[in-house]
Amino acid sequence: KKENWIAPSILSADFATLGKDVKDVIAAGADVVHFDVMDNHYVPNLTIGPLVCESLKKFMDREGVKAPIDVHLMVKPVDRVIPDFINAGADYVTFHPEASEHIDRSLAVIKDMGAKAGLVFNPHTPLHYLEHVMDKIDMILIMSVNPGFGGQSFIPQALEKLKAARQLIDASGRDIRLEIDGGVKVENIREVAAAGCDTFVSGSGIFGKANANDANRYDTIIKQM
Ligand code: DX5
Ligand code: ZN
Repeated sequence: KKENWIAPSILSADFATLGKDVKDVIAAGADVVHFDVMDNHYVPNLTIGPLVCESLKKFMDREGVKAPIDVHLMVKPVDRVIPDFINAGADYVTFHPEASEHIDRSLAVIKDMGAKAGLVFNPHTPLHYLEHVMDKIDMILIMSVNPGFGGQSFIPQALEKLKAARQLIDASGRDIRLEIDGGVKVENIREVAAAGCDTFVSGSGIFGKANANDANRYDTIIKQM
């Protein structure tokens, strides 16, 4: 198992002050920027595209904010937008297998462009999509909510799926991150870690709890994670 990473989901940040929110949350000890892309088609919500990723990346470079950008694509069809996000600075690109006509090809596009690639599993999606592509995978993302919105409750069945994914990763002997996304908070993060997870997305659990008037508002939350 790898070093634990906290990945705040900017979906719950203030988009009017996104750069500052990201800078603050990384300064407070977070490790990765989780960037949720929704298309109002694959999921019933609409968020941000490659332009925002590019601006954020430039801001981070300028301000010396060092953290990978983890782009979670909830877009169908996904293939067309993958290169745009890598050109915009994405370090990790994950997508839902149901949203790609040719999963192996989508993974290959990500790898060929030099980014890390991952598949995302909805609560109902079986892990067997991994079977023939494990050699191209750098990250497995288990959804512990149905994708589309921040602030939903953690679906406990995700714990069994994490354990199963952890076994697959260990059996492969490959260097693969195991990420969870949805309803993760200070209160349940230990249980999630015990199931084998090493990369923890948290949106409302970090940004939602923070007191906007306090400059060090993310420190206490992230330290407890
Ligand atoms: C849901 C998104 C998540 C979401 C997590 O579709 O993929 O990243 O923002 O938000 P919380 O942590 O509030 O459940
Ligand atoms: Zn996400």
